[in-house]
This record gives sequence, structure tokens and C-alpha cells, in this order.
Amino acid sequence: MHRHTHRPDNQPPRHRGLFRLAPSRLVLLASSALATVAAAVGVTPSTASAAEVVIYCSVNEDWCREAVTSFERQTGIKTLMTRKSSGEVYAQLRAEKTNPKADVWFGGSGDPHLQAAEEGLTEVYKSNKLEELYGWAVKQAEVSQYRTVGVYMGALGFGYNKDLLAKRKLTPPACWSDLIGAGFRDEVQVADPNSSGTSYTMLATMVQLMGEDAAFDYLKKLHKNVNQYTKSGAAPAKSVAQGETMLGITFQHDLLTEVIAGAPVSIVAPCEGTGYEIGSMSIIKGARNMETAKAFYEWALTPEAQALSAKVKNYQIPSNAGAAIPAEAPRIDKMKLISYDFARYGSTAERTRLLGKWDREVKALAK
Ligand code: F6P
Repeated sequence: MHRHTHRPDNQPPRHRGLFRLAPSRLVLLASSALATVAAAVGVTPSTASAAEVVIYCSVNEDWCREAVTSFERQTGIKTLMTRKSSGEVYAQLRAEKTNPKADVWFGGSGDPHLQAAEEGLTEVYKSNKLEELYGWAVKQAEVSQYRTVGVYMGALGFGYNKDLLAKRKLTPPACWSDLIGAGFRDEVQVADPNSSGTSYTMLATMVQLMGEDAAFDYLKKLHKNVNQYTKSGAAPAKSVAQGETMLGITFQHDLLTEVIAGAPVSIVAPCEGTGYEIGSMSIIKGARNMETAKAFYEWALTPEAQALSAKVKNYQIPSNAGAAIPAEAPRIDKMKLISYDFARYGSTAERTRLLGKWDREVKALAK
């Protein structure tokens, strides 16, 4: 019996000593299972050493676990996983450039994947499943010259705790502009855009929605109302649900998870319009386990694998057109979505510039 291994955020992956079966038996099992999945997804298994795959995972932890457990169960390929936010994984890939420690980066918002692609941190790979995917997922692959691909999509928004709002007798916010009102002083939580892809999506959304000067004015005003910049993008959704903050800016699907769990949370698709993410996946350049990396990648694009997210109450829109869109998923066709320029805001020049400016002009501001 071998199960996936989760390590806390800041520990490096362990590659050795995790087998619970005699190594020779495991190799046999894993090799034959690998041959099966490999045949199905069209890759050639090479050696017994290809019996494991190391994943950096940037979706929510429960989905990460579900994905690696299912992949491991179906293929026998030992799957090691670490969950980190999108900006953190990007930074880690940079730091590990000459000695990559992981094979696949699964999930996380698309901009940092695109930056990693531009910097040659991820491998060119053209999946034979591209033709099954929605146009937005394929476009993500094209923009990156096939160094990444779309796995899911989700819209940004915010949520508020209905009980806290009612207690303070405040008017329910409906627009981005409402969040900077004096009534919400210290009541808004959002992640730091350096670590979090969600929050970078917000930063880039504001710039595209309002123009850069107005966006930075807005973010400075919002800063006064922010009680905490969290590391992970979905953390504010949990804080809103638990009543630790009145408002949280996150992807709407992360708020929905809390609503479905029974939390007193209202989800808002902001009246001015909003941005969205193409959650992505990339194979890491110089991956030690290239064959199993490709096997995981192909598997993650199947409708069956994409159905696992809803099973653990994650309600993004899957990229494989053959995968059911969860009935609960936020209706993006009913929202005003901006025409997000992923090529521009996922470029090294723009992402680095905007993050630097946000650090200097917003985060450093006294409150
Ligand atoms: O899984 C939840 C999720 O919101 C994804 O949709 C998104 O890609 C990811 O988290 C972003 O996480 P972070 O903001 O921590 O980088």
C-alpha cells in the first residue's frame, strides 16, 4: 500500500525512502501500471526509476490530495505533492532552475505559469488532448508556446459575512468601489499578490478595468481597509466564513465552497465587471521524472480527472469540454468579464513591474 505524501508548505520534497513495499515489488507494480497509463496517454515508460512523480500543487489542498491520491491509485506511480500558492511556486522554480526538485506544477492562476514559460522554467509539451479542451485553455498553451495549458477557469469577486454586515447595519457591497468606503475600515482581507495568483489577478484586473493610475489610487484606498494580506489566495474566503473578517476578495468559487458548507457568506460579482483566471499546468524544465510527468499531465486533462475537483467541492470550470461543469459553479455567462490580456499581464516585464510598484506604493503605505 502506498499513499501520497503531503508536506507542509516550507519543506523541500523528499525523493527517497518513501516506499512502503519492498523496492523490487514496487518497481514491478509501478512499471506495469505505468506501462498501462502510459499506453493510454501515449507516452513511453522508460525505466523503473520513472515510478514516481513530484508535484507542486497550487489548487486548494483538498483537491491536490484528491488528485494525487486518485492518480496514484489508478497508475501505481508514487506521487509526492507539496501545496504552495502560485507566486510562491513560480519563485521556487526560479530558485531551483539549475536543480529542479519537482516534475509538474499543477494548478494555480495562469499569469505566473506564463512568466515561468517565458523564462524557460517550464518544458515545451503539446498534449494530444488539446483538441478536447475549450478555446481559452488552448489559447493559454498557444500564448506560452506550449509550455503551459489551461486546466480550469474561474472569476474573481468578493464575499461578505452576512451576519457581521447585519450586525453593523451596513449596506451590502455590490461593486469594487464599495470596498473602499469608510464603513469597511479594517474589514477587508485579500492575499499578497507576490505570493498569491488570486491577488495578482486582482491587481491586473484593476489596472485593466480602471487604467493604471486610477487602479493604484483605488488600491491605496483599499489598503486602508485591509486588515491582512494573506499568503494564499483562498484564505480570505475561509476567514469570511468564520467571521474573522467581514469581507474577502477571492475567486468566487472559493467563496462558494464556504457557502455550500453552510457559512453565512454572500458572493458578489462586482458591478463594474471583473477579471478571471485560466488555472494552468506546466511540466518543469529538466524534470527528473519526465515520463511520469507527462503521464500525470495527460491524466489531469481527462474529463475523469477534472471531475475530481467538484467531488471535493471546488467549483472551477473544467477545461476539458467533455467534463461536466458543476451545476453549482458561478455563472460566468451572467457576469461582466473583462477581456483579460493574459499575454501582457503574464509577461515577466509587466508582472515584475506591477508587483514592484504595488510593494512600493501600496504595501509600504502607512495606514
Ligand atoms: O484552488 C483554489 C484557487 O483559487 C485556484 O482556483 C487558483 O488557481 C489558486 O487557488 C490560486 O491560489 P493562490 O492565490 O494561493 O496562488
